[in-house]
Amino acid sequence: LRLGVLISGSGTNLQALIDACRAHNFPAKIAVVISNRPDVMGLKRAEAAHIKTVTLDHKNYETREDFEAELHETLQQNKVELVCLAGFMRLLNAEFVNRWKDRMINIHPSLLPSYKGLHTHARALEDGVRFAGCTIHYVRPEMDNGPIIMQAAIPIEPNETEESLIAKTLTYEHQMYPVVVKLIAEGKVRVSGHKVVFGEDVN
Ligand code: GRF
Repeated sequence: LRLGVLISGSGTNLQALIDACRAHNFPAKIAVVISNRPDVMGLKRAEAAHIKTVTLDHKNYETREDFEAELHETLQQNKVELVCLAGFMRLLNAEFVNRWKDRMINIHPSLLPSYKGLHTHARALEDGVRFAGCTIHYVRPEMDNGPIIMQAAIPIEPNETEESLIAKTLTYEHQMYPVVVKLIAEGKVRVSGHKVVFGEDVN
C-alpha cells in the first residue's frame, strides 16, 4: 500500500511509520511526505530515511482550493493509495476530503468524540477526567470526526502535567499508527455506515 504522509511539524508519528515500513514484510511504504510548513523536523526525518518530500507552503496559495488542488495533484502523481494525516494542522475542505473518502486517516490526541480540536491534554486535565487517549479515524469533512478505527484509553495519574500527558499519549500514538496502517493494507478494515468493522479480506 502506497502511503502519503501529511505533516506540519515534528513528525514523531511519521517516524513511527518510517520505522515500521523498514521491516521487510511490512505491507505498506511511504511514497511521499508532504508538509505545509517549510523546514520542519518531520521533513528532516523523511530526508534522513531517503523518502521523497514535498513542501507545499499554504502561504503561497491564494485560496484553500488552490492549495488543495496542488495537494491532490501531488498525491496522485505519487500514486498514493492511503493518506495519513500525522500532525497536519490545516483544515481540509469537504471537496478534498470527499475525494479521499475512506482513503484518508487522521490521528488525534484524545478519546474521540471527546476533546476535538486543539489543546486536548490541557482541557482533559482541567476537567479532571481520569482517562485521556488517542484515536485514529477515517477523515470526514467535520473536524476530528469520522469512523473510528482504533483508540487507546490512557490513565491520567494524580500528578500528571500537560507535558507528561503529551509525552505519554505520543508513545501510544506511535504504537497505534503502524498497527492501523498494517490492518488497512491487509484489507482487514471496512467502513460500514458511520462505523468501522474488522474482518479478513474485506476488500
Ligand atoms: C500528535 O499528537 C497527533 O495526534 C496530533 O498532532 C501531534 C503530532 O505530533 N494530530 P508529531 O508531529 O507526529 O510528533
